[in-house]
Amino acid sequence: MVEGAIDRVLFSEKDIAEKVEELGKQITKDYKGKDLLLVCVLKGGILFMSDLSKKIDLPLKMDFIAVSSYGDSTVSSGVVKILKDLDTSIEGKDVLIVEDIIDSGLTLKYLLGNLKTRKPASLKVCTLLDKPKRRTVDLTPEYCGFSIENHFVVGYGLDFMQMFRNVPYVFIPKQEYVDKMQSS
Ligand code: PRP
Ligand code: MN
Ligand code: MG
Repeated sequence: MVEGAIDRVLFSEKDIAEKVEELGKQITKDYKGKDLLLVCVLKGGILFMSDLSKKIDLPLKMDFIAVSSYGDSTVSSGVVKILKDLDTSIEGKDVLIVEDIIDSGLTLKYLLGNLKTRKPASLKVCTLLDKPKRRTVDLTPEYCGFSIENHFVVGYGLDFMQMFRNVPYVFIPKQEYVDKMQSS
């Protein structure tokens, strides 16, 4: 069903699994003895957070925050809204934000600013994908899976019009498919 929408697979299940394992090991080392709280940025971060957390061998906690800047558009609106806030206080905690992708950086800039005011012991970012060339604000993630060019990518949490988040790999959709969906 999904095949018809694919132009090119950018990262296979295996590519992702290997990278997630590597990141998990590094985070396990870096956060040993700390009060680690993983904060998943919904909805995009859901698959990455799920897999990554299983590769971190520490007694961590999880919380979830939902923000949206894109809606159904392929271009960031630049206006970030909190749709669902964290359930717990992060004061004194070592917070690691888990994202699927950093594009303009506007979502994270807003999140970092917002969460900083809640006085965490530390606040860092782990993203699966990064598009550094697209950045409009100065921001570098402490942990990054893959740095990519300016492709429109979907799958593994990343959506196109809310679809394809469940696809277990990251792919570039066919332009004609994107055009067709956007005009219907
Ligand atoms: C996407 C993506 C990141 C953000 C990156 O989320 O998951 O959170 O945009 O873009 P930026 O760096 O330009 O801000 P989106 O707003 O589409 O919400 P979603 O995660 O629910 O799909
Ligand atoms: Mn997102
Ligand atoms: Mg989205």
